[in-house]
Amino acid sequence: MDVENANCKMRVSQCADMEIIPIERPLKVTQEISGLDKLVEELHKVFTDDFVNIQDVQKLMAGYKSNPKDWKKYAKFDRFRYTRNLVDAGNGAFNIMILCWGPGHASAIHDHADSHCFMKLLSGSLEEVRYDWPSTVEPEVRKVLKRHRCSSETADQLETQMADLDLSCQNDSCQNFGGKVDRCQSECRNGNGYEEEDYSSDQMEELGRTRLEVNDVCYINDALGLHRMENPSHVDSAVSLHLYCPPFDSCRVFDARTGKPSEVKVTFWSVNGKKVKRVIEAIDNADSQQ
Ligand code: SIN
Repeated sequence: MDVENANCKMRVSQCADMEIIPIERPLKVTQEISGLDKLVEELHKVFTDDFVNIQDVQKLMAGYKSNPKDWKKYAKFDRFRYTRNLVDAGNGAFNIMILCWGPGHASAIHDHADSHCFMKLLSGSLEEVRYDWPSTVEPEVRKVLKRHRCSSETADQLETQMADLDLSCQNDSCQNFGGKVDRCQSECRNGNGYEEEDYSSDQMEELGRTRLEVNDVCYINDALGLHRMENPSHVDSAVSLHLYCPPFDSCRVFDARTGKPSEVKVTFWSVNGKKVKRVIEAIDNADSQQ
């Protein structure tokens, strides 16, 4: 996936025929955005187009300099867990929300339901910890990438690989790789790409950690891996701004020791500054509370 130029109005797996290239750092801010309302207004304008460039969204978010006066009406904290507070539902194309993290609060390791996730730090400091996907779970985007890779190889190459690996597809209805050869035989057998899962010993692999400071912007999607966020401070809170497109209301969380996934609903603590109801934050990592 060409991350800089992919269209973030589409699901990540629909942009998967492009190559992964790194986003330019530091992001060049081309437009100063005066206030959160103005940022939301500019995002609405950008998202009216059919093609929305990922880097343009990042630049817009970077162009806004955090000012607590703009966002304090959305900043609602809970003693026990981080809160998700909806700022704008983006006409259904994206949603933008403010997350409030008390000292030690953290999210669980999660995916992004095939959506694009942009994040900007508004106050305090957060640590992003990235993980590779567990070997037992394959995101939609990797299935699509695999199909692209395989369909671009010649039948000869595939046959050589098939002989090497002794993997021939036994299922006539398999459409993967043109229905001819399947290097991932199990994908044809049981439809989800994996045999009976064994979650007993698959510790998840950490790929890296990044400390985010005020006004930093970062981006992740399922092709790049999984992550969790953590407020490492024992005393200070943190506030972050998140944009998801397309919006999603459920995703998967993963057990760090085994890689076992569970589907969870994601909910809002408040909408437009008004508390909705007492809900358990779905991606919350209760174990990390201090
Ligand atoms: C995060 O990226 O850790 C926040 C997840 C959420 O949207 O609740």
